[in-house]
Amino acid sequence: MRQMTVVVFGGSGFIGSAVVAQLVEQGVRVRVPTRRAEHARHLIFLPTVEVVELDINRAAPAALAALLDGADAAINLVGVLHSRRGAPYGPQFRQAHVELPRRIVAACAAAGVPRYLHMSALGADRDGPSMYQRSKADGEIAARSEDSVAATIFRPSVVFGPDDHFLNLFAAMQKWLPVVPLACAGAEFQPIYVGDVARAFVHALRDPKTRHQVYALGGPAIYTLAELVRLAGHWSHHRRPVIELPAALGRLQALLFELLPGTPLMSRDNLDSMKCDNVLDPAIQALTAATLGIKLTALEAVAPGYLSPHERLDDFRARAGR
Ligand SMILES: NC(=O)c1ccc[n+]([C@@H]2O[C@H](COP(=O)([O-])OP(=O)(O)OC[C@H]3O[C@@H](n4cnc5c(N)ncnc54)[C@H](OP(=O)(O)O)[C@@H]3O)[C@@H](O)[C@H]2O)c1
Repeated sequence: MRQMTVVVFGGSGFIGSAVVAQLVEQGVRVRVPTRRAEHARHLIFLPTVEVVELDINRAAPAALAALLDGADAAINLVGVLHSRRGAPYGPQFRQAHVELPRRIVAACAAAGVPRYLHMSALGADRDGPSMYQRSKADGEIAARSEDSVAATIFRPSVVFGPDDHFLNLFAAMQKWLPVVPLACAGAEFQPIYVGDVARAFVHALRDPKTRHQVYALGGPAIYTLAELVRLAGHWSHHRRPVIELPAALGRLQALLFELLPGTPLMSRDNLDSMKCDNVLDPAIQALTAATLGIKLTALEAVAPGYLSPHERLDDFRARAGR
């Protein structure tokens, strides 16, 4: 069978790296553009991967055309969690979630790339309560903006795996803080394993029935935010009391985080996203998993392994041959 070539935008990130690894296992040739080559240094030794230092936001049309030349598909996993405020969303959300996919899809059409897989998020909604959700909804419109490029859209709930951005954060917080003051403690999530999300993308590349479809993705169980924080504390052996904050205090806490230098731990927009539960209908979930060939992995089967300090040490020793 002819070897496929796929360009993975956002391939250096948490989910992107899992997608790239599975594509490589399948013998696919992968090109990964990154704004900084060092963000993708963990990918450069993979056998069929080419890392290209290129900022898509500023790239000349000729550079984008060269990147997509001869590709069978493009996958876009670019995303940000924070943005300055704005209506309907701030400039960072506009750039990463709306303008960038529009550019990529237009470049695919110009280069004759027929297929585009797009990462959105569960809760994407033009009228949603958060800028993140509104920008993700407009990103989906951008994903479908060229008739000659068949898009497939994925909307996962929160994603877990060894380098995830949420259970690892909850574990780290409990290592350093005596208590965890938590806003939106009752918000519900349906965490899905990063390897299962990657499998969905790889499956969709080969299955023409997935063209023009939108898939909501969730794991096998639903948890509240407080339950996830407690589990992360338990598995990392640093369990601390969780203090559920009332809405006004939670908002004040988020505002304070936004005022601190660096990436905020939590923003007011993150709280707005949690006004809607991040879960899906069980019937849809089962059908989607079957359609995409995924056997859903339980949180309990994987997360203790990467959060536990003992397991981490064993893993380090095994890698060091001791
Ligand atoms: N993680 C989750 O729980 C979750 C849940 C639902 C949906 N999603 C969506 O899944 C996608 C991937 O998430 P992730 O957790 O893997 O994110 P991540 O680890 O933060 O990776 C983000 C990627 O996007 C690229 N990127 C970020 N800002 C960019 C910008 N302004 N211009 C160009 N490239 C930019 C980065 O590339 P370089 O730095 O190498 O350029 C990086 O490869 C995102 O669209 C996210 O919204 C994630």
